[in-house]
Amino acid sequence: MIEGYGILTVAAGESHLLNLCVRPESRGEGIGRKLLRFLISLARRHDADILFLEVRASNAAARALYQVEGFNELGTRKDYYPQANGREDAIILARSL
Ligand SMILES: CC(C)(COP(=O)(O)OP(=O)(O)OC[C@H]1O[C@@H](n2cnc3c(N)ncnc32)[C@H](O)[C@@H]1OP(=O)(O)O)[C@@H](O)C(=O)NCCC(=O)NCCS
Repeated sequence: MIEGYGILTVAAGESHLLNLCVRPESRGEGIGRKLLRFLISLARRHDADILFLEVRASNAAARALYQVEGFNELGTRKDYYPQANGREDAIILARSL
């Protein structure tokens, strides 16, 4: 059973977290944090100095996870994500490695 997955790119000293997902039935058990920490260690191993990501403004669970794991807000991409009735902003986050 796959409990979750993450997608990370690393190039030229920068890393980007493109996706992080835990299956709905397994959320709130620490798997997301564990996966995120693993991906951070992977980025470091590949000589990245910084990790960037984008998150929907309304995604309270993910934003709380990134905040407790030391990410800082860099800015906003206005109307970045499609949603049911319109568009939603992306919050750009980064963490030094
Ligand atoms: C975001 C996501 C990966 C978190 O995974 P998870 O395994 O449920 O998270 P964890 O159990 O490791 O929780 C770690 C921390 O995240 C925060 N958190 C997790 N779920 C939360 C919720 N529903 N509400 C508020 N904070 C939450 C808490 O700070 C938590 O720490 P704590 O348990 O010590 O309070 C998961 O909710 C998910 O897959 N969401 C859908 C996909 C998604 O939005 N991915 C992010 C895209 S940028």
